[in-house]
Amino acid sequence: MNNYDKNNILNLLDSVSPDNADLLETLHIIQEHFGYLSKEALEIVSELLSLSVAHVYGTATYYADFRFVPPPETIIGWCSGPACLLKNGVGIRDAMLAVFGTELGEQLDNPSVEVCMAQCNGTCEQAPQIWVNNKVVGKLTAAKAIELARSIKEDI
Ligand code: FES
Repeated sequence: MNNYDKNNILNLLDSVSPDNADLLETLHIIQEHFGYLSKEALEIVSELLSLSVAHVYGTATYYADFRFVPPPETIIGWCSGPACLLKNGVGIRDAMLAVFGTELGEQLDNPSVEVCMAQCNGTCEQAPQIWVNNKVVGKLTAAKAIELARSIKEDI
């Protein structure tokens, strides 16, 4: 992750001005670079685009894509698509959450891990599946999901 300070944010948004900027695109640029949107970044965007902080914050929080805390070391995307649901996707999700002792979308700090909802990516032949830091782990069973969650919990 990159150093999240005011100068870095300003450098990153060097070409952004109220005349040519798209708010969503600007927020995506920041999140892509830093991994999340800090309060300071939202304030800088507000200043840069001559929008109220409430407008910027309201837009950012409307979309599930944006994070407001640093991402964990391990992000597990749980596929909520129909093929995975038909093959016990919910059981797999619940088994992993039970091992981590968290809810969907809640970050466990130590180890730094989060199970979040993801959408079908078209590789349903691997259903039911999850993505561990974008790497597909497919044809899961609840038992394999528990084993994987325990090993992630022990390794970190
Ligand atoms: S439904 Fe899960 S990969 Fe398609």
